[in-house]
Amino acid sequence: MTETLPQMPVRRATRLDPPVEYDSLREDRPVTRVRFPNGLTGWLVTRFEEGSQVFADPRMSAMRPRHDTRPGEATEAGQDAPFDPVFVMMDEPDHSSYRRLLAGRFTPKSVAARLQPYLDRIVDEHLDAIAAGPETFDFVEAMALPIPCLVICELLGVPYADRDGFHHATQAMMDMSRSREERDRGAKWLIDYITQLVADKRRSKSTEGLIAELIRIADAEGSIVTDRQLIGMGVLLLFAGHDTTAAMMGLSTLTLLTHPEQRRKLLADPDRTAGPAVEELMRYLTIVQFGLGRVAKEDLELGGQHIREGDLVVVGMNAANRDPRTFDAPDTLDFDRKIIRHLAFGYGVHQCLGQNIARAELKTVLPRVFARFPELRLAVPAEQVPMDEHGTNYGVFELMVTR
Ligand code: HEM
Repeated sequence: MTETLPQMPVRRATRLDPPVEYDSLREDRPVTRVRFPNGLTGWLVTRFEEGSQVFADPRMSAMRPRHDTRPGEATEAGQDAPFDPVFVMMDEPDHSSYRRLLAGRFTPKSVAARLQPYLDRIVDEHLDAIAAGPETFDFVEAMALPIPCLVICELLGVPYADRDGFHHATQAMMDMSRSREERDRGAKWLIDYITQLVADKRRSKSTEGLIAELIRIADAEGSIVTDRQLIGMGVLLLFAGHDTTAAMMGLSTLTLLTHPEQRRKLLADPDRTAGPAVEELMRYLTIVQFGLGRVAKEDLELGGQHIREGDLVVVGMNAANRDPRTFDAPDTLDFDRKIIRHLAFGYGVHQCLGQNIARAELKTVLPRVFARFPELRLAVPAEQVPMDEHGTNYGVFELMVTR
């Protein structure tokens, strides 16, 4: 029998806030059964403490059949996965044995030493190009997309010339308004692309970038990294590493343009304020807009509800990050806020591996753009900025500004 359940709220009344229905859900039914946009049913969690519990609980599995727990996505059981599940879909101890192979490249120290000088250079070059170009321009095309693409290419050893291909494939894969076939075509493009890249790098014995490092690890005797694993990790890093940060950079810039008092705070003392400002923007905007799912491995209690083994549990991170139990005046953007933690990068063992890279990019770009172009303003009314309402990551498609 099909369960009659309310739909997960997805429509926003305002551009920078999550759907208003989350406010009443969080108060009255913080762990509640809903139907997700893909037709699946499960539990939606809208409070911060319960959301953190889901991410931290080893009884909650990240091992999900392909597509089944991404609440925006369509499901088709029994399909062959094109690559082995990558560590983002593994539980302990397997997850850690793979994540450990990469972790050293993603620490704050490694990012500061290996990526920050490159980041400083490319950001300045892009600012110079903006200064030399037309007064009105698309910030996404000029900065928010190229910087994360360049950084991930540098990190992985992927040719930047291939950016249009991998970006469009990622967008197709993440767009919940497209058909299952179109999204699968995007994923297949990325898999074929990384497969070819791995073959080229093997042939040329390239030592540049993380993919070459992973090939070395995979080729060592007794390695746990199979070729299908290697390709899966390459695909994951390539799409997770650029689309998220690009979405966050565009949306953060729109937010700063429409919040002049916070922008002034950031510019008054960028060295001190950039870190807290980026954390507050991460919390306030929480771009992973349809939440993240786990599957209960056994019966358990959560927020007074009985969750059964096999149930899908989705944490609405954008609702949890506006929980008044955890944050004072949660709907206000406030760079003076002391944030201990938020869920925008997830939480627990799967917490975003690339968070220090994303932070470095945002902390470098946001203050420098406004320092260099203090008159920067929207070239269209804020209500007319085209928003990506169907992407796994919320963001702007285009941000026309005048310098
Ligand atoms: C995991 C968000 C940037 C690579 C995650 C998760 C979230 C997230 C919410 C948790 C997934 C889960 O628990 O199922 C973001 C956001 C970003 C960002 C909002 C930018 C603002 C990056 C970058 C990279 C990256 C730049 C790579 C360079 C990864 C990887 C995982 C992950 C590999 C899987 C970690 C694991 O399962 O152990 N990210 N991410 N992310 N992210 Fe990010």
